[in-house]
Amino acid sequence: MIYVTRKAHFNAAHRLQNPEKPDEWNARTFGKCNYPNWHGHNYIIEVTVAGEPDPETGYVVDLGTLKKVIEERVLEPCDHRNLNLDVPFLQGIIPTSENLVYAFYQQLKSPVEAISSKGSVLYSVKLFETERNIAEYCPFRTIENI
Ligand code: NI
Repeated sequence: MIYVTRKAHFNAAHRLQNPEKPDEWNARTFGKCNYPNWHGHNYIIEVTVAGEPDPETGYVVDLGTLKKVIEERVLEPCDHRNLNLDVPFLQGIIPTSENLVYAFYQQLKSPVEAISSKGSVLYSVKLFETERNIAEYCPFRTIENI
């Protein structure tokens, strides 16, 4: 099994706010991330495909093609946008790193697997909100096997 990763970055604004909770709860729970007039992050996304190399190309996935899929499915809709307001596939969620990374995985799964070698899977998506705050979604690892 080979793991191949492509990294990309984008800038976006957001606000953490649960509309079903009072303002005081939101301020206490989310702190600075609840400031009413938005704030931004320089996000980094890492997309990992797992599989066997195609015998004709030696590739699990062509990284140039993977780059284009990430651009189309994540960067174009999210870069320099407001994640709460502007991105159709993020409507109705609180845009924490956890919720974003899960949504990005869903956006990427089918198109990434379609361009990868036979039997390959979208293994994981990792999102860096800052250098120190990172969330990863990997459906192949479960609580039972970590
Ligand atoms: Ni934030």
